Amino acid sequence: MEVLNLFPTELFVFKNTSVDNQQLISYLDKLENIEIKKTSTLSMLVNLKGYDEFKELFSWFDQCLNSVKNHMKYDCDSLEITNSWFNVALADYQMYQNVHRHSMSLLSAVYYLSEGSPTVFEDPVIHRTQAQLEVLRFDYHPFYNSDPEPGKLVIFPSWMYHSSLPHYGDKNRYIISFNCLPNGKINHNLATDSKATVRIINDQ
Ligand SMILES: [Fe+2]
Repeated sequence: MEVLNLFPTELFVFKNTSVDNQQLISYLDKLENIEIKKTSTLSMLVNLKGYDEFKELFSWFDQCLNSVKNHMKYDCDSLEITNSWFNVALADYQMYQNVHRHSMSLLSAVYYLSEGSPTVFEDPVIHRTQAQLEVLRFDYHPFYNSDPEPGKLVIFPSWMYHSSLPHYGDKNRYIISFNCLPNGKINHNLATDSKATVRIINDQ
């Protein structure tokens, strides 16, 4: 039997073993300056790339994005991070993130600074779960749980629906997230009309 694994969705996982995640958490705690509503995950929008404390980490993010660009054979000069933020799920409040996508972005990412509740990615081929006569399978589930571990980065298509489950840990759950867009000459080698020249300015 030949199996055609057509139209798969690719997510990219990297591990950083050199950054001091606890140190970064202490920086984030100092940045934290908002009214805390203990309902859902706290999301703080800041341009972390602009902070000296995060330069090493974002330099590594850029390397990871370059690896993805090469793997995907994207016809563009580079992938540039356009914005970044961090989320905190406080301990003992079962904080979560509702299902969502990221707009104005090609690829998005979640970087885990700590352990905690998983990020849940939904199977984008919704037709196979909408079938009226769905036959359940022993080895298939329409969700993928990405378990946090300090130093783990997951890069995913921005159109992919995802969420995070309620956090039941006794320590806060910290993640950094970012979006990116293609930069420079886009599609110039592979198209004559569907192309653009773009210069991303990171001024979040
Ligand atoms: Fe997200």
